[in-house]
Amino acid sequence: MKSIRLATAVVVAAALSVPSTLVATAAPVDRTPGHSAKDTLRGAAPKGFHIGTAVAGGGHHESQPYPDPFTSDQPYRRVLAAEFDSVSAENQMKWEYIHPERGTYNFGMADKIVRFAKQHGQVVRGHTLLWHSQNPAWLEQGNFTAAGLRSILRDHIKRVVGRYKGSIQQWDVANEIFTDTGALRTTENIWLRELGPGIIADAFRWAHEADPKAKLFFNDYGVESVNAKSDAYLALITQLRAQHVPVDGFSAQSHLSIRYGFPGDLETNLKRFSALGLKTAITELDVRMDLPESGVPTEAQLAQQADYYTRTLTACLNVRGCDSFTIWGFTDKYSWVPVFFQGEGAATVMGDDFSRKPAYTALRNTLAARR
Ligand code: G3I
Repeated sequence: MKSIRLATAVVVAAALSVPSTLVATAAPVDRTPGHSAKDTLRGAAPKGFHIGTAVAGGGHHESQPYPDPFTSDQPYRRVLAAEFDSVSAENQMKWEYIHPERGTYNFGMADKIVRFAKQHGQVVRGHTLLWHSQNPAWLEQGNFTAAGLRSILRDHIKRVVGRYKGSIQQWDVANEIFTDTGALRTTENIWLRELGPGIIADAFRWAHEADPKAKLFFNDYGVESVNAKSDAYLALITQLRAQHVPVDGFSAQSHLSIRYGFPGDLETNLKRFSALGLKTAITELDVRMDLPESGVPTEAQLAQQADYYTRTLTACLNVRGCDSFTIWGFTDKYSWVPVFFQGEGAATVMGDDFSRKPAYTALRNTLAARR
């Protein structure tokens, strides 16, 4: 199914220029009927602080009984435009979507996101360039030489980052490169396995050459606290910066669960990176819970969830250089959580019908208090 869908929209590698349709002018921001600008997350946010969401599409959505959310669901699009001033590609810029065959790129889905963002005065987070997951079979099973692979990665980064030059505020250049014990993922990650750790610096350099203004990030989950994994990032980034590798930021995805305690040292941890002169960001926040048999969260669960959202936002607001805060989807209707975690869900800030949960109100009030 996927290959048919992709084949209909593939763009052959020779088409190098950015289409003029990407160069949209900002139009007035759509608002959810009945909500004034001040009553939205982006309206409440302090100046310069970006409040974002992942744009639902690709990935788990393809196995769900609904059409592509971003392109098909008009109420969804209205809320997306009204509430957020930053958008991240949930799946649409990953290798398997944007580079489905060797030498063949499919920019269609990513172009639509970038165009939407321009139309609604939003910045874009690009996700992601060097990762062990969601790579196409032609790449993972290609048996390329080291020189061949290196050239494939270089071309991909130059091509993808170059296409959106000036349109992407932050790129997750390297995603999830360490295990929980702080070891590089040299088994699963094709780039690290075949080319060694030096490829990380190259990836940042190539991305910087392709778009000198985009801020370039390391991004991972399980790095909210001071722990072996975040220590590994701190050490690696310190080393890379000493070598003048253009690393600008470190981001904590923040897929949390009320089953576990809140990572209370998040702010302390982010400040370690900020002290290196780096930007930091929260890039994929959601807070899942074990659903009761009814499937409806209890008031206590929703209150605890709201507390986790608030504390994550507050930690970011308290750190210099943490000015990008993204939730991994805003409606439970499209969340990845129930697909991955059996019996868990309700992880976002809105119900299936876009009704605002306590977590939504908590975020908006926390933002408004900092204006
Ligand atoms: O590729 C297989 C396909 O062969 C199979 O037929 C199909 C059956 O359902 O599954 C396909 O894999 C899906 C994959 O996306 C393909 O794109 C998985 O089931 C599906 O669960 C997966 O979901 C995405 C996931 O990344 C993959 O890692 C989610 O939509 C997306 O929200 C999620 O996002 C990640 C971030 O990129 C990185 N941080 C963690 C975050 C949550 O997992």
